[in-house]
Amino acid sequence: MSRQPDWLDNAVFYEIYPQSFKDTNSDGIGDIQGIIEKLDYIRDLGCTAIWINPCFESPFGDAGYDVSDYCKVAPRYGTNEDLKRLFNEAHKRGMHILLDLVPGHTSVEHPWFKQSMKAEKNEFTDRYVWTDSIWEEPTGYGSLRGISDRDGSCAVNFFTHQPALNYGYYKPEKSWQQSMDSEGATATREALKDIMRFWLSMGCDGFRVDMAGSLVKLDEDGKGTVKLWQNIREFLDKEFPDAAMVSEWGEPDKSLQGGFHMDFLLHFGPSHYNDLFRCSEPYFEGRGDVSEFVKKYIESYERSQRKGLICIPSGNHDMDRLAKWIHGDKRKIAFAFLLSMPGAPFIYYGDEIGMNYVKGLTSVEGGYGRTGSRTPMQWDNSVNAGFSTAPKEMLYIRQDESPDRPTVQAQMNDENSLRSEVKKLIAVRQANKALQSKGDIEFIYAEKNAYPLAYLRSADNEKILVILNPSDNDVSFECKLIPTETIYSFGGEAAIRDGRISVPADFAGYYKV
Ligand code: GLC
Ligand code: CA
Repeated sequence: MSRQPDWLDNAVFYEIYPQSFKDTNSDGIGDIQGIIEKLDYIRDLGCTAIWINPCFESPFGDAGYDVSDYCKVAPRYGTNEDLKRLFNEAHKRGMHILLDLVPGHTSVEHPWFKQSMKAEKNEFTDRYVWTDSIWEEPTGYGSLRGISDRDGSCAVNFFTHQPALNYGYYKPEKSWQQSMDSEGATATREALKDIMRFWLSMGCDGFRVDMAGSLVKLDEDGKGTVKLWQNIREFLDKEFPDAAMVSEWGEPDKSLQGGFHMDFLLHFGPSHYNDLFRCSEPYFEGRGDVSEFVKKYIESYERSQRKGLICIPSGNHDMDRLAKWIHGDKRKIAFAFLLSMPGAPFIYYGDEIGMNYVKGLTSVEGGYGRTGSRTPMQWDNSVNAGFSTAPKEMLYIRQDESPDRPTVQAQMNDENSLRSEVKKLIAVRQANKALQSKGDIEFIYAEKNAYPLAYLRSADNEKILVILNPSDNDVSFECKLIPTETIYSFGGEAAIRDGRISVPADFAGYYKV
């Protein structure tokens, strides 16, 4: 495993969807200057690092995940100079910034793709995955065909306007399938390094990597893609040893082998993550099951050498807002979980105030059902909730218009608010090493269809027992550990008798043992 920058050990991330965070020039779209102005807010919450969704030039057919220039900030967000200023302002505050790297595909408008579409052979002919006949389609997500004089179909990665970059096939079978070390695949890999070099030299601290597990084609167990990332890691170790790498992969045993420092548990893949937050009976809404999640978690944890590098996000720009599924004080208990697990926690902007999923919106920039989780941040009671002074119709996405929509301002003034609780929980995490990323975890009670959930976190000689009961009933469990000191509690206190610990309904507690 590669060296890990020290700051990651105790990082708490805040994910910013730049178009919806803070607009400073009244065009209805968030911008980099807006992020700079809100750094103190994020720091005050206790977050030490930020992941910004793609902010590069793009036709925005997938909200920026369709890049047309990797080395240029999209004019609607500002300039490269603004981004550099953001890096500096963050560093002044002891914070770190990850950019979103989209290595798997570009926009159809990327100059590489325009060249690649040409019938005449040129430098970019093999930059993407093409078959050698328009009548043959590559296997996978689909293809782009009949779009130019080039006689071939181009593989796509996500939407059909996102042509797949060529990193080769793990085991090429057909004549047009290139190997990982072919000239074309090697050139793509080197071009990716150039992009990383560009931003890292400017002061960015690392990357969240989009669809990191999907680069090498016909690579079922990910062996080729792991190898590719090891090559990238080698380059980083040489030139930017402090760069942090977090993958959107969802299989930590693979991504960590590939040299990533951390991976996410995601709404897709085998993690059972959403058994907890987003399903017909979410565990944290008080009537679900946590046992499958725990089983899977332990499996990944063991396979990644108990390193505690699996990040559990409160949500992200691709899934329903947490608040759609988890209500009232149960949200606080969900955060007591998110902020006491190994790996760096990721808080999706607005989740700290319980921003809602806004139903019934028309899709914006390829958001479709995801659009309702991407609405503008609600700062205060001024016009457009302080997000922008543009006329309401100009806002990037319509805002939550319900009269009781939560705002930062109201919650900062209320010690019982979700935001106050999240802030408190982050502070407790930061004061106790056992609760941080690398602390060990052992599950004490995680039975099928049962409450509470209890686990022991430990580091050096510190041991902390976490007990979470988001159900509507008082519950108890057998436990040999004896709490000696409360370091956090919500909703009452735990009682110990005859080797059993009892806790009230809607309760969360952290105890030294
Ligand atoms: C990732 C992103 C998502 C995007 C997709 C294609 O899953 O999180 O928003 O649409 O990749 O790049
Ligand atoms: Ca703006």
